[in-house]
Amino acid sequence: MTTPHIQAKSDQFAETCLLPGDPLRAKFIAENYLQRAECITSTRNMLGYSGFYNQRPVSVMGTGMGMPSCMLYAEELIKDYGVKRLIRVGSCGSTDPEIGLNDIVLAAGASTDSNANRHQFNGYDYAAIADFDLLSGAVDVAKQQKKTVKVGNVFSTDSFYHPNRKLTAMLNRLHILAVEMEAAGLYSVAARHRARALAILTVSDDLITQQHLSGDERERSFDTMITLALAVATD
Ligand code: HPA
Repeated sequence: MTTPHIQAKSDQFAETCLLPGDPLRAKFIAENYLQRAECITSTRNMLGYSGFYNQRPVSVMGTGMGMPSCMLYAEELIKDYGVKRLIRVGSCGSTDPEIGLNDIVLAAGASTDSNANRHQFNGYDYAAIADFDLLSGAVDVAKQQKKTVKVGNVFSTDSFYHPNRKLTAMLNRLHILAVEMEAAGLYSVAARHRARALAILTVSDDLITQQHLSGDERERSFDTMITLALAVATD
């Protein structure tokens, strides 16, 4: 079986799938963290792998950037491949003075400037929220691993280069912790299909101080997030 965007066989995905935006991140995770990882799809170079972590089956697949891309992969993974737990692993820009570079944010909720969820909700405002079990599981695993995580609302934007010059201040006023580009869409797709989803994010850009992680620093902070996400995935 194939879908328009995934060419894996119907039983090749594990029930839990990590979702980085960048397909080369998916390859890196498969090659460096999973055992017996196999590439199972590469349509449009959107790489997907299945393997094992702590003897438990787990998949990892790129989603591309932005809600339209992330939502179509989430939809096909859940509906056609039986994926039940989707854990986005990505980067974000912090909009809260208490949160800085390398911090990990668990997106309990995701506000948005996108219309993607309104399409499905008669124009009403949908509260896109993380799956509670995954979220509380991630908080527990973070404690066990002695990692500090910040839990709260994020903002999923359609515009990386946002036209609103006062966006950071506006988000901070409503205690939104960070900006990224996928969680609100991922959460609504998961909810519609009764699947579970969580976005785990590393702060790569501090939008208040305008500091940004270097390539090396990104790699290190990425490791903290991936080992957290894989422990949640195989909990
Ligand atoms: N904006 C949106 N998405 C992001 C950012 C940002 O500043 N940094 C990392 N992902």
